[in-house]
Amino acid sequence: MKKILVLGSLNMDLVTRVHITPKVGETLLGEGLEQIPGGKGANQAVAIGKLGGQVAMLGRVGMDGFGEVLMKNLSANGVEAYLTQAVQGPPTGVALIMVNDSGDNSIVVIPGANFALNKEDLTPAMFEGCDYLLAQLETPIETIETAFAMAKAQGLYTILNPAPARTLSKQLIERTDLLVPNETEFATLTGIQPDSEAHIKEGASLLFEIGVKEIIITLGEDGACHIDTSGNLHYVKGHKVKAVDTTGAGDSFIGGLLYGMAQGEDVKKAMNRAVIVGALTVTKLGAQSSLPTLKEVEDYVGGLK
Ligand code: RIB
Ligand code: NA
Repeated sequence: MKKILVLGSLNMDLVTRVHITPKVGETLLGEGLEQIPGGKGANQAVAIGKLGGQVAMLGRVGMDGFGEVLMKNLSANGVEAYLTQAVQGPPTGVALIMVNDSGDNSIVVIPGANFALNKEDLTPAMFEGCDYLLAQLETPIETIETAFAMAKAQGLYTILNPAPARTLSKQLIERTDLLVPNETEFATLTGIQPDSEAHIKEGASLLFEIGVKEIIITLGEDGACHIDTSGNLHYVKGHKVKAVDTTGAGDSFIGGLLYGMAQGEDVKKAMNRAVIVGALTVTKLGAQSSLPTLKEVEDYVGGLK
């Protein structure tokens, strides 16, 4: 089994339920307030850990109660936390989340300590013994750029989930082997909406020209699409489930994908499990609280037969 290093954010998600998402200037009553471990980086690491993969998390929390809970939650779910440290000064990252009756969310992230993961903190030794480096965009970009350069120099395969959406430097795209955007992020990066096969190929070719080796566009409940440098498209259909809260679905798809790849599965085959991991996450409230174990995934697959 190969080892995955996740460089990314850890947030405490403060979650309330609303019937409909409030409009600008509107005041509504929310139902309950839950503290649920989140952060795109930690969600992806915990998704891999819960499935039984070998994974370590590189990140930063503050010296506070939220940070303690998030660190403990890594270890409790099989994620090695030796590269995640509490820093003095900024508080642990927090995400304010509203989930409406359709299961859709609105999120504001306050990065806090996540932005204290500096490129100077990185050493080549951190990547030793790892086969994959996975990152998102909730930590400083220069840190990700430096980490990807170090990882590539040591022969790791690099995977970037460019979320939340923003434009990226050529260097970072060049150092990315597998890029996993959703439709909005793909459009932000390429300037092309992935609304047809021709547009997907056109946008993807811009990224391949810079140096990306393969792309998976996540399509929400419609599944995902893999594109290779020859322009071949491979679609995997999504699974229809009752949506309670979509928070963490993209993260768990990526966790499921990396878990499969680390078992030696072909990327396209790993997508089959990843869409199920993503779908199961949608059926429960919260991010890390809704990530399935391998047994839950297998039981779901058994139930389909
Ligand atoms: O992708 C979902 C995550 O985005 C939440 O857990 C929240 O913390 C934000 O980082
Ligand atoms: Na969820």
